[in-house]
Amino acid sequence: MSNVHLINHPLIQHKLSIIRDSNTGAKEFRELVEEVSMLMAYEVTRDFPLEEVEVETPVSTARCKVIAGKKIAVIPILRAGLGMVGGILKLIPTAKVGHIGVYRDPETLQPIEYYCKLPSDICDRELIIVDPMLATGGSAVAGIQFLKQRGANQIRLMCLIAAPEGIETVQTKHPDVDIYVAAIDERLNSHGYIVPGLGDAGDRLFGTK
Ligand code: PRP
Ligand code: URA
Repeated sequence: MSNVHLINHPLIQHKLSIIRDSNTGAKEFRELVEEVSMLMAYEVTRDFPLEEVEVETPVSTARCKVIAGKKIAVIPILRAGLGMVGGILKLIPTAKVGHIGVYRDPETLQPIEYYCKLPSDICDRELIIVDPMLATGGSAVAGIQFLKQRGANQIRLMCLIAAPEGIETVQTKHPDVDIYVAAIDERLNSHGYIVPGLGDAGDRLFGTK
């Protein structure tokens, strides 16, 4: 089974409460999604290996540590995943960004793929798939499948809010993928929305409703 990491730092919980609030407008929503994504990236990368280097300080030579040549790519699932990219790039500016377009058919809730543009060397990269919502898990499972078909083998999934159903689905279909979430909510409603959740993440980010 993949590991599920619940990142519930007080700052993240506080900001997530404002994100959930239906009175929060698109500007503040976008800013907070970016901030929470940056804070989560700190934990998602916690086990990255380090190597020693020598640095000349103004006083003497210091033995220091840097991240050991790890190549990273952030893969947002369009559209809502786009809102998480900026925050992660602030922490890891050298990361490449690949895009996967998947939307959920509102009737069947099945994921429909419509776009894919990835860095050419995804097989050599640690991939962090980002999407604010893990509801039925269909979109995440499809996105992970997409990447594996193209040779990816080191994949992490980072979401703001997950439903238990979505976590179980990803764990069953992709047990090798670790899942990082800021909250695990109660359940899905009959329309496949997370309860209590935050509503439609894409619409709230981009003001389309
Ligand atoms: C939302 C969300 C996830 C998906 C989660 O996207 O951003 O991608 O639903 O649901 P699932 O776990 O049941 O697949 P949506 O399909 O609304 O597309 P959008 O980002 O373009 O709004
Ligand atoms: N997609 C969203 O944007 N919100 C949900 O609650 C479920 C799927």
